[in-house]
Amino acid sequence: MESMKILPSGAGCIPHLNAVILGESLATEENDFVLPSEEFASQANVQSPEQYLKMYKRSIEDPAGFWSDIASEFYWKQKWGDQVCNENFDVRKGNINIEWFKGGITNICYNCLDRNVEAGLGDKVANYLKDIGVKKGDAVIIYLPMLMELPITMLACARIGAVHSVVFAGFSSESLSQRIIDCKPKVVITCNAVKRGSKVIYLKDIVDTAINDSTQNGDVIPQYPTTCPVEWLDAEDPLFLLYTSGSTGKPKGVVHTTGGYMVYTATTFKYAFDYKPSDIYWCTADCGWITGHSYVTYGPILNGATVVLYEGAPNYPDAGRSWNIVDKYKVSIFYTAPTLVRSLMRDGDEHVTRYSRKSLRVLGSVGEPINPSAWRWFYNVIGDSRCPISDTWWQTETGGFMITPLPGAWPQKPGSATCPFFGVQPVIVDENGIEIEGECSGYLCVKSSWPGAFRTLYGDHERYETTYFKPFAGYYFSGDGCSRDKDGYYWLTGRVDDVINVSGHRIGTAEVESALVSHPKCAEAAVVGVEHEVKGQSIYAFVTLVGGVPYSEELRKDLVLTVRKQIGAFAAPDKIHWAPGLPKTRSGKIMRRILRKIASRQLDELGDTSTLAEPNVVNQLIELADS
Ligand code: PRX
Repeated sequence: MESMKILPSGAGCIPHLNAVILGESLATEENDFVLPSEEFASQANVQSPEQYLKMYKRSIEDPAGFWSDIASEFYWKQKWGDQVCNENFDVRKGNINIEWFKGGITNICYNCLDRNVEAGLGDKVANYLKDIGVKKGDAVIIYLPMLMELPITMLACARIGAVHSVVFAGFSSESLSQRIIDCKPKVVITCNAVKRGSKVIYLKDIVDTAINDSTQNGDVIPQYPTTCPVEWLDAEDPLFLLYTSGSTGKPKGVVHTTGGYMVYTATTFKYAFDYKPSDIYWCTADCGWITGHSYVTYGPILNGATVVLYEGAPNYPDAGRSWNIVDKYKVSIFYTAPTLVRSLMRDGDEHVTRYSRKSLRVLGSVGEPINPSAWRWFYNVIGDSRCPISDTWWQTETGGFMITPLPGAWPQKPGSATCPFFGVQPVIVDENGIEIEGECSGYLCVKSSWPGAFRTLYGDHERYETTYFKPFAGYYFSGDGCSRDKDGYYWLTGRVDDVINVSGHRIGTAEVESALVSHPKCAEAAVVGVEHEVKGQSIYAFVTLVGGVPYSEELRKDLVLTVRKQIGAFAAPDKIHWAPGLPKTRSGKIMRRILRKIASRQLDELGDTSTLAEPNVVNQLIELADS
């Protein structure tokens, strides 16, 4: 790693990256770092900090040149206009507007399939959709488990210009119905049933309940021809919307467009996983979440990658299942969430070590911060201390990786997502929105747009601006807390808003609260996240009952069931804490800070409770904590 100590010329223009070049600090604290092997680095797409820095510098100083060179590798029916990027990122200067490759005409499905393979996949479903009148711009809801048909349907929609909206098949009929009402799809695509572990879940029945209609879908697919012409789209035409949770009640329909998303997911995939055509790639995410869009479907397929798609649970029928699949299909890139790593870690090394795993080359982590001990187990046991881990920080909104290691390019630090991807300018601001330099902690924001950025919230551009661009004017606000160390490495510390991250799933506290209060016996509810050994966070609900209703185990179960029914099993609270009252300020605002401390039993850290309208409720809550 001698070469890392050489400071490349021109590096000084990117202040927060100077440290990444790893001058003296690396030499003195080498123990903090996990270095890629010479063997790995010498074959990597980006092989050194210097090479990264050169590319990064260009991506910031000349984004138009940098991204148009990459975009030119794709098929465009017509090239974009003079401006590669057109953006207003500052609410003080008018409405937020982000456009990339405007005027360029392309099709992402064409680039995924026709460009990469001789025989097209996806065409069968596309012809069915066309036959029933689905056209460019129409919404299509996809409510399917991780069958091959799921990414195929996504590609089919993209091919004909329909806007897909995948709803995770773990969502309840009520959540599905909420999304149907919001985006008014022309069609909902589902299947009869799916097996999850040993349990059968009847998806079609759930859809029927959601649309209150039992129209017979049947198996309509085989009668259609196997080719389908491509609908050419403007780079800024919408590709999909995906609902995600925010700090207020209603889920937000995040809108991604065609051209920039295509270029960005393909490029991030290639570099963050050091992708080579010989790789076999497996990502355990479900297409119902953004990871399944960008890194099960579009990013890998745009690269022509061989993708393993797995329908079942990664630890069923036993904890060795994942490594059995890795060995069977010779998986070389394995991308998963820390929650799975932690749960497998608990099950013991023997489930791992009885498989060879020698095909593995690169590991990836996403969805929540990975704690250093889980990182080390992933690295040492799963990866036999030879596979770099790409801890990728990003969001539904960002479309693709924002802060991620480039394996082979620089040393890693267990638990840090390391440094920004090309074209991404992260900044850390204080509570007044002032940018802080160097080693610091604060709110993670981004300074200018990147091609994969979301363009709006479906039907609500105002909410888009208010949620993301108004908290700190001039920046995109991620909702995450973050610190940067002396080497310029970023450490994500979790959400700073009322969003809980359970097993890498984003859940708004307000959504769970509104499900709870819909129960006739619940008067008020306040939900917080508490640390959980495997899930990262778990849901902890304080519930105040309607006057006179007694506490009972049966009611507790019924409240949990209400949440399962309204949102989905993954959002069910682990704990219902009976609350005669909730700690509120005199203006009526619930003091969640205090609830979080009670929930995690950090009772000596409650802080000042004297400003509460009724300070005594805190003692009552503590008394009822374990009842
Ligand atoms: O808090 C961050 C966390 O997940 C949030 C985004 O959730 P979602 O939109 O559902 O997308 C998940 C898949 C990208 C972020 O605001 N998060 C995601 N990746 C990481 C992470 N936190 C720390 N480290 C990560 N690698």
